[in-house]
Amino acid sequence: VVEVAKPPAPAGFDPFSPEYLEDPHGYWDSLGSHPVFFYEPLQAFVVTGRDDVATVLTDWQTYSSRLLRAAPLPEENVEEVAPENREIPGKLMKCAYINIDPPGHTVDRKNSQKAFTRPLVAATEPAIRQLANDLIDRFAERGECDLMSEFAHPLTLGVIVHMVGLPADQMPEFRHWIDDFFGLMLPEGAPVPYTAEEIVGRYNRVGEAYEFFDSYLAERRAEPREDLASAMINATDADGKPALSYDQVLTHLLELAAAGSETTASLIGHMVRYFTADPALREGLEADPERWEETIEEGLRRSAIINNLMRVTTTDTEIGGVAIPAGSAVLVNIAGSSTDPESFAEPLAFDPDRENLSDHLAFGTGRHFCLGAPLARLEARCALQELYARLPGLTVVPEAPVEYAGAMTVRTIKALHVRWDV
Ligand code: HEM
Repeated sequence: VVEVAKPPAPAGFDPFSPEYLEDPHGYWDSLGSHPVFFYEPLQAFVVTGRDDVATVLTDWQTYSSRLLRAAPLPEENVEEVAPENREIPGKLMKCAYINIDPPGHTVDRKNSQKAFTRPLVAATEPAIRQLANDLIDRFAERGECDLMSEFAHPLTLGVIVHMVGLPADQMPEFRHWIDDFFGLMLPEGAPVPYTAEEIVGRYNRVGEAYEFFDSYLAERRAEPREDLASAMINATDADGKPALSYDQVLTHLLELAAAGSETTASLIGHMVRYFTADPALREGLEADPERWEETIEEGLRRSAIINNLMRVTTTDTEIGGVAIPAGSAVLVNIAGSSTDPESFAEPLAFDPDRENLSDHLAFGTGRHFCLGAPLARLEARCALQELYARLPGLTVVPEAPVEYAGAMTVRTIKALHVRWDV
C-alpha cells in the first residue's frame, strides 16, 4: 500500500470560523501563498490558486460534480412518508445541473438555455425595478432597515418567482420547498445533520411540492404563458419532442431559485458595504453610469459569495505538485482563487480598473459556469440604482456587525443594518 502524501492545511485555516467567514480574502493575503493541501476535518483536498481552481472546474472528466445524494429516509420511519413520495428527493437530485456531468449535463444545459434566454433575462428589468420600489416604499420613511430581510432577499426571490410565473403570495411556500429539497442534498458519505423527524418532514414537503408542480406544469403545457415555467416545459428538441421532463423542469426551477436568490442578495449587500467604505466609488457612478458593469464585476471578485465548490476525483491525478487519488473529495476554494497575486495585482484593493477584471471565478468556469450570471449582474445593478435614487445618504450602520450565514459553500449575508437621511 502506497501512503499518499497529504500536505497539511496552513495554520489557521478553518472555513467555518467566524473570522474566516468575515474575511477569507484577508486570510489568504496574509498567508501569502495559495497551496493545494489536505484538510482533515472534511477529509478533502483543498485547491486555492486561481489557475489550479480553473483547472479543476474545467476538467470535468477528472473532477466530477456527481457527488450529492438525498439524505436517506431512516428504515424505522419509512411508513411516515407516503409510498409515492419516498423516492422523489433521490430521483430529483439526479436531475440537478449541479449534480451531473457531460454528456447529460451538456444536453440539459442546452435545452434549458432555450428557455432561459438573454432576451427573457433582459425583459425582467422593469419587473426588477418595480419590485425594488415596492419594497423600498415599505421602509423609505423609517430611515433605517435590515437591508437583507427587508429588501435584498425578498427582491431576489421575488424576481425568480415572477420569472417562473408563480403568484407572488406563493413566495413563502416556494421558499420552504427550496430549503426542504436542498437541505436533503448532501455530499456522498457526509454525516446527516438532521433528526429522523426533520428528514421525514422534508420528504413529505418535497412530495407536496412535487404534486403542486405536477399540475402547475401540466397547466403550463396546455396553456403556455409568458413565463419561465411555460418556456421550459414547452421547449422542444430537434425532433420536436419535449426537451425537458417534468422532473427536470421542477428540479431546475427549484435550483434556479436556490442558486439565484441568496447569492444575488449578498452581492447587493456587499456592494452597499463597498460604497459605504468608499463613497467616491458610487459618486463616480453618478457621473459615469457606464462604469456600473466594471464596478459590479470587481464586487463579484471581492465578495467571495460562493466560498467553495465541491468535486470528486474519478481517477488518480495530480495538481499543484500534490497527488490526489481517485474517489477523493476536492474543495475548490473560490475565495482563495480571487486573491491569488499571480493573477490579481494588489488583490485586496477594490479596483474596477484592473486589467483582468473578468478573470475572477465568482461564477465558476467551464461546463457549470453560472447559468444565472447575466440575471445576477442585471438585478444587482437595478437594485442598487433604485436604492441610491430613493434613499439619500444610504450607509451601513458602522456599529452593527454584518451577520454571515456560515456554510461550507456559500458565504451569504444574513443581516445588514443600514440607514439614510429622512
Ligand atoms: C452573485 C450571484 C451569483 C453567484 C456568485 C453565483 C455563483 C455560481 C457558481 C460559482 C456556480 C458554479 C457551480 C459549480 O461549478 O458547481 C453557479 C452555478 C449556477 N448558478 Fe449561479 N450564482 C449567482 C447567481 C445566480 C442566479 C441569479 C441564478 C439563476 C436565477 C443562478 C443559477 C445558477 C445555476 C442554475 C447554476 C448551476 C449551473 C450548472 O451546474 O450547470 N445563479 N453559480
